[in-house]
Amino acid sequence: MSKNIESHLEENRVYTPSEEFSQSARISSMSQYRKLYKESIDKPDVFWAREAAELQWQQPWSQVFDWKAPFAKWFVGGKLNVAENCVDRHATSSRRNKAAIIFEGEPGDRRVITYAELQREVCKFANILEKNGVKSKDRVLIYMPMIPEAAIAMLACARIGAVHNVVFGGFSADSIVDRLEDSGATYVVTADGGWRRGKIVPLKENVDVALQRYGKVRKVIVHQRCGNEISMTPSRDVWWHDEAQNVKSTHRAKAFDSEHPLFLLYTSGSTGKPKGILHTSGGYLTGTYSTFKYIFDIRDTDVYWCTADVGWITGHSYIVYGPLANGATQVMYEGAPNQPDFGRFWKIIEDHGVSIFYTAPTAIRAFIKAGDHFPAAHDLSSLRLLGSVGEPINPEAWMWYHRQIGGERCPIVDTWWQTETGAIMISPLPGCTPCKPGTATLPFFGVDAAILDEAGNVCKANEGGKLVIRKPWPSMTRTIYGDKARFRKTYWSDYSGIYTAGDGARRDKEGNFWIVGRIDDVLNVSGHRLGTAEVESALVAHPAVAESAVVGRPDELKGQGVVCFVTLKEGKESSEALRRELREHVGRTIGAIAKPDDIYFAPALPKTRSGKIMRRLLKELVTTGEISGNITTLDDAQVIINLQKCIKP
Ligand code: WT7
Repeated sequence: MSKNIESHLEENRVYTPSEEFSQSARISSMSQYRKLYKESIDKPDVFWAREAAELQWQQPWSQVFDWKAPFAKWFVGGKLNVAENCVDRHATSSRRNKAAIIFEGEPGDRRVITYAELQREVCKFANILEKNGVKSKDRVLIYMPMIPEAAIAMLACARIGAVHNVVFGGFSADSIVDRLEDSGATYVVTADGGWRRGKIVPLKENVDVALQRYGKVRKVIVHQRCGNEISMTPSRDVWWHDEAQNVKSTHRAKAFDSEHPLFLLYTSGSTGKPKGILHTSGGYLTGTYSTFKYIFDIRDTDVYWCTADVGWITGHSYIVYGPLANGATQVMYEGAPNQPDFGRFWKIIEDHGVSIFYTAPTAIRAFIKAGDHFPAAHDLSSLRLLGSVGEPINPEAWMWYHRQIGGERCPIVDTWWQTETGAIMISPLPGCTPCKPGTATLPFFGVDAAILDEAGNVCKANEGGKLVIRKPWPSMTRTIYGDKARFRKTYWSDYSGIYTAGDGARRDKEGNFWIVGRIDDVLNVSGHRLGTAEVESALVAHPAVAESAVVGRPDELKGQGVVCFVTLKEGKESSEALRRELREHVGRTIGAIAKPDDIYFAPALPKTRSGKIMRRLLKELVTTGEISGNITTLDDAQVIINLQKCIKP
């Protein structure tokens, strides 16, 4: 019986950046990467001290890091103000009148906010928070649409040392209650509503429902976005714009300890209640600053756009902290990718001259499904660099992104990281790394990534195992809020002093990291352990298939049988012939071992709000015929009802 995860998918297409791109990039050759990487691993204190020194510290640190596994401190003794680094530093430089945020609302309203304006807005809101009694280390729950005020509220919290907890605007009142209770929050910042697919999301109403069940909130500060009717509870609820009338637009930023808590962000484990991932100040800012600078190779002339929501870690690290710490100009978009149709993103790129575009594989697959005519109708020539995050990007989706969006000229940075890691851990550097579609390639500076087998030995090339990080890094989570035991058990109990990410992966002969899926999702077919990503990528490579999810189902003979769910591209029809064809196709691409036992054609796959496929639910469905597990993170409950119909026609 093989204990390791096997790999059967081979990808040989290699793409290297153009000479023009390389020459002007910060890291322009692999030898330069290797040299810096070696330094960052051998002498992390030297490498990270140099990166951190590019930020503004009000008091220098005395020690770069202190590591008592699994608890890290970075830039010990140093003091800084995170908001000052992201805003004031630029507002008092030649970037003063440079656009920080180019905002586009879903209805089409537009606003440009310069660094000088951002400074005034953040200072005003910091004053509003203080006037309403918010103190250092108080937890502030932020439940906002994707509008500049979300970032302003986060930065204002950082400025006064309050700990923000952003809750994605698509979550329900129940999710708000869970997070309020776990974090002990005493303040809420929200909006009357936000625009999504032409409708108003009733944010304030959801907060009201939540606060009927949680009584510790002292004040709710409400931004007016949609003008929808809401009820305001006297003495508890105040309007942002009313408060803004009575505060100054300057605010003196205090220095906080490098290990001062910056934010909590809840991430749903596959089971159990969401974990409050804690990030602190100096190390987190250094990590997001440095990764953003090198991986997106940011320039003052760039227009950067990340399509994530601020409610996810991607929005924290690569909309708010990383880009702003670098003084970047970015687009922020409020709404859905298909409002009014699947051309919206491409129109935004054309209209604002976006040069760096960062999105998720789930979005890319939705665009492929919708059809090539949408991007083809827009001028995307301003783009110079593309990024992907959130899931393994299937090689076929990578190729489509490269051709249809990147015009075959833009490098693609496939960035692997997690809420817990705070910043990107494995990714190409766009000016030098040879890319193969489907791999996040090589570790970033200071990241000692490896793949271990159950016994803790480093796996051989192409042997699958557990993805781990063997050394501390600045932006690592410090703990699960209020639950150190769970922190140790979840991330630090497989191997002593080593961080386990929960992903299965392999390295190819060149050392590239391939994520094969979450460890919990790995299939075991006749003693062969198969990652979900490879079988799914094989299916997505078929011209009729848009998306797929693969799960194991108990099988008397094989241990587990391979069950596949697929959605088809626009205009493709399901049939018995196609089912047979897909089965043969997987057999040819991966091997007979992976040949699906069943293939179901589904109208849609169950996903989390952030777009990850929830294989856990599919596994339960094919095993028991029903879903009894926790579905609070499911995006669309109708999907499950449709799936039940398609497995029992
Ligand atoms: C999990 C973390 C990181 C921000 C968004 C998700 C998967 C993420 C990749 C990638 C393959 C990826 C992993 C990881 N993942 N990026 N480039 N290639 N898998 O943050 O919600 O904390 O999820 O997302 O499984 O463990 P998150």
